[in-house]
Order: sequence, then C-alpha cells, then structure tokens
Amino acid sequence: MQGKVRLGQDSGNEKKIVLIDEKALEEKLYENLKRKELPDYLLYTGFGGARNWLNLDESRTFPVARKLTGLLEENIDSIVNFIPTGMSMVSVGVGKGEKERIILEKLVRKNEAEESCDAGEKKPIHYYPIDINTQMVDMALENVQNLPVEKKGIVGFIENMPLLKNHWHLPVLFCILGNTFCNYEPDFILKLVEENLESGDLFMFDAHILPGQSGSEEGRSARNTVIGTYSSRENALFNMYPLLHYGMVPEDFDFELLFKHVHSRIGPLYRTRKTLSILRDTEITLGPGTVKFKEGDIIRMGFTYKYTFDQLTAFLDAWGFDILRKFLSEDRTNTIILARKRT
Ligand SMILES: C[S@@+](CC[C@H](N)C(=O)[O-])C[C@H]1O[C@@H](n2cnc3c(N)ncnc32)[C@H](O)[C@@H]1O
Repeated sequence: MQGKVRLGQDSGNEKKIVLIDEKALEEKLYENLKRKELPDYLLYTGFGGARNWLNLDESRTFPVARKLTGLLEENIDSIVNFIPTGMSMVSVGVGKGEKERIILEKLVRKNEAEESCDAGEKKPIHYYPIDINTQMVDMALENVQNLPVEKKGIVGFIENMPLLKNHWHLPVLFCILGNTFCNYEPDFILKLVEENLESGDLFMFDAHILPGQSGSEEGRSARNTVIGTYSSRENALFNMYPLLHYGMVPEDFDFELLFKHVHSRIGPLYRTRKTLSILRDTEITLGPGTVKFKEGDIIRMGFTYKYTFDQLTAFLDAWGFDILRKFLSEDRTNTIILARKRT
C-alpha cells in the first residue's frame, strides 16, 4: 500500500498531501475482483465512493456512525478535559470530518481560555484529516475552514501509518472514529497504533458494540439488531457499489451476511462476514482490463467485529494501552475510549 507523495493546494489554501491516486485504486479493484475479492476500502473510492458512504450514513436503517456522533456530543466536555492543550489531532478514515469538527471546536475554546489566563507562548493546534478518499479529505478540511487550526489533509491508507506519521507534529491525539476500528483485525490495528504512537500521544476510537454476552437476553436482541442493520437494502447497495458503478445491476448478485463467532487470543468474538454471490454470467470493464464472472461465483468481502466492552478492554490491555476515560451509551451499545500507550 505504497504510493507517491504529491503536494496539492486542492482545498482552499490548505495543504493536501496525496499518497495514493485514483488510478492505483482502480488497479487494486481490478486485481481484487480477478481474485473474487472486494475488500471494504474499495467501497469508498472515487467521487462515487464518497457519495456511497455519505448515502449510507444518512440512511434511516444504518445509524451506526451517526449514533457515535451523538455519544461524542454528549460527552465532549469531559473528553476534552483529558486532552492537553496544544496537542495535534490526527484522524484516520475521517469521512467528512463531522466528529473531528465537534472535538476541534472545543479544543480551540479550551486553548483560547488557557491563553487568556496565561500570557505565555501560543500553541497552535495542528489538524491532519486522513482518508483514502481525496474528496473526503477536502470535505473534512472544508468543515473546519473557519477554525483557527493549522490544517494539513493526507490522502493515504491507515496501513501506511509509519509513512503518515512523518507529516505530523507531536504529540498527537490519534483518532479512528465512526466504528472504523472494528473493520480491522484487532491484533493488526492495535499493533499498528502501538508501534507508531510515541509516549505522550493519545489514542481515541469509538465502536458499536454488543451490550452483553452471547447467552444473555440483551446480547441476543442486540445480535438480531446487528443482523437487521447490516442486512438492510441500504447496506447491501453500499456493498455492491463498485460493481454497480462499472455497469452491473442489483439483480446480478445476492448480498449475503453471516454473523458468527471467530477465534481470537481472548476467546470467541462476533464478526460479520459478507459475500456477493453472482447470479448470472457477466463481465465488467475497468481501466486495467475486463473481469469475467460466472453464475455461482462468490466474491469475498470485508467484515466488522462486534465486541463487548470487556473484550475491547482485554485487547487494549494485551497491547499495552491504559484506558484514561471510557464512555458508554445508556444501552451499552456504543462506546468511545480514550487510551494511552503504557510506558
Ligand atoms: C465507516 S466510514 C467513517 C467515516 C467517519 N469517520 C465517520 O465517523 O462518519 C470509514 C472511512 O474510512 C475511510 N477508509 C476506509 N479504508 C481506509 C484505509 N485503509 N485507510 C484510510 N481511510 C480508510 C473511508 O473512505 C471512510 O471515509
């Protein structure tokens, strides 16, 4: 997941660093489809990919990221109390940067209040919205245009965190918001963050979680809700988007979702697993070439983990993170965690 570095002035007068381009993403789509795979990041690429996510996020049947915005709004004062003045904010998978705007507004106010008490040196807040979608980075920059923060957008993969971190001022509040944390293997994402944060940095992420263990009544009902949400027509269309974009129609495939236990170092975890089953012979042509599908082909897709709060705590502990502050919605189905690497 490497790319060229290009500096742009694409959004007002803000700097944007482009580490991946659209052509490379189209090639990845082609290579993946030839292997009958469609990893989730390919659902978000290009202008259409940005619209694809925003449509899903606005849909009544898929309130996952929106509910996490609500939880953030309810707890923002308390969260900001734990963020030292002058800390930079990095947010990967930033989308349109709505949650980041909520945090930055409060951080700016806190900074200003401290500056007025203390006539000392001013500490600017640096903000780095990062996403694989260049339009999302533009939207996130636009969202904070009138805030007095130093902005630098980066178009790049979270997987390239060692490269991304060359661009930011330390210390950072490193954020993964909108339930994006759950789209990665827990050991992979926590290792990546642990290895690339410095002492003094903070890590904040949010997650849509299961309120109870498998056997409990609330656990059972939450699992049914998860299956309903992720099997909705809106989510099915979201997952078909790249194929629809290149000319296939919804009647060409079935979207199937499983919600099953998988093994992990802390015991069994729930995870969705998605596939598209091809219903008739067809082909699509992308920039790099044509991909043929046969009736009965199965395209393997990404997944989302659904942890309980205790499972998240166990993973953070195993990877050497101390939880500074945790926030749980009343029904225990959403959480925001602010953590620090153990020194
Ligand atoms: C579920 S959306 C969340 C958006 C936003 N944080 C929110 O809360 O609404 C995931 C975001 O991550 C971006 N994304 C997906 N895979 C990525 C990757 N490998 N590296 C960086 N960003 C990625 C997508 O383009 C999208 O904007």
